[in-house]
Amino acid sequence: MIILGIETSCDDTALALIETEGTGLNTRCRVIASLVHSQADLHSAYGGVFPTLAKREHGKNIVPLLHKLFTDIEPGTVCVSLEHFTKTLDSFKSLQETNPDLYESVIHAEFLKNIPRIDRIAVTEGPGLEPALWVGISFARILGSLWNIPLIPVNHMEGHVIGSLLTSDTAMGTWQILKPVHFPALALLISGGHTELVTIDEQLKYSIIGQTKDDAVGEAFDKVARLLGLPYPGGPHISKLAHEAWEQKIPSPVSLPRPMIGSKDLNFSFSGLKTAVLYAVRAGSDASGVLSDDFKKGLAHEFEQAVTETLEAKLRKAIDETGAETLIIGGGVSANHVLRHRFQAVADEYAIPLYMPTRHISGDNALMIALAGSLHTTDTPRALKADGTKRLDK
Ligand code: KG4
Ligand code: ZN
Repeated sequence: MIILGIETSCDDTALALIETEGTGLNTRCRVIASLVHSQADLHSAYGGVFPTLAKREHGKNIVPLLHKLFTDIEPGTVCVSLEHFTKTLDSFKSLQETNPDLYESVIHAEFLKNIPRIDRIAVTEGPGLEPALWVGISFARILGSLWNIPLIPVNHMEGHVIGSLLTSDTAMGTWQILKPVHFPALALLISGGHTELVTIDEQLKYSIIGQTKDDAVGEAFDKVARLLGLPYPGGPHISKLAHEAWEQKIPSPVSLPRPMIGSKDLNFSFSGLKTAVLYAVRAGSDASGVLSDDFKKGLAHEFEQAVTETLEAKLRKAIDETGAETLIIGGGVSANHVLRHRFQAVADEYAIPLYMPTRHISGDNALMIALAGSLHTTDTPRALKADGTKRLDK
């Protein structure tokens, strides 16, 4: 089965094509193509993601990105009729007002008249920024109607879980099996919008057993980075400064709290930590509001330590409480080296396998969405028809 994945939940416009065989976690897959167009530079000026800007950019970029995705692969050769093309777009006329960028882009995209060899379209339906999500969903609906291909709605957080089970994201075209999961499995999802501990059973049913009460951990990294005058997204910058502090043995100027580290539940809180950084920054700035480089490095290191200790403590508690047999870490913050190192140490101590995403798919991407979508599809692809035009047989 060939699946097109579409992801627009935040500031990355992402598309991917994968081929899968088998069902559920026994699925084998190969990556045909995967592209991510990041808007991070544009949002940097706002210190975070600006939803209306994200929507506009997705609307402008998603059609050219699909064209690029199709450039390297064999496109379909059967064309939808002009009548069907017009009729389909007529039924999406409201987009002209709600998302003119996407509508304009679609009506001028001649290549969309070629029906590709695709069996399903998997699209992120949430959670995420609503205006941004709608671009992907609307585009998926247009493509689904135009090519008569069923859609699979995918939860973004499940995408992060399943993405961590890929053995390689770069070996394009090579068949791979998913990493073996033993149940109950426990996932720690750490991204710009979420911080969650989730249990997973054999049926791929997810239960949230702990989550942040305020800021997500990635959001805390981004806000602290902003306080230190670093660009968005702040995680990698904080991590770099923290590493320099460690290398150069620069002490922290303050001790930061480890929020909720001893609480009885599995929840998190990061907004107090961010506020403590704010006070430290105010106290540590010189008369003209400037912080020394060493101060920034020491504080970044202390912040990273506080986050690491907190996440590690709750992860241990969750393993103890659930008897987890497999650990899965997902979300953009999982790119952090110190965290990865600590999570590995915890998994080694408990002697359970730990799966973290490879470098290219720790952030948002459509590969994980296509793959998560495929796990929820058991029926074999039908010979679909688009407006009386027979689809190509594979
Ligand atoms: O999963 P993701 O790409 O997007 C969301 O779904 O939110 O996560 C993005 C978050 C940002 O907050 C970014 O600062 C953080 O991941 N991040 C990091 C690192 N790389 C990205 N945080 C800490 N250390 C990193 N190396
Ligand atoms: Zn994400």
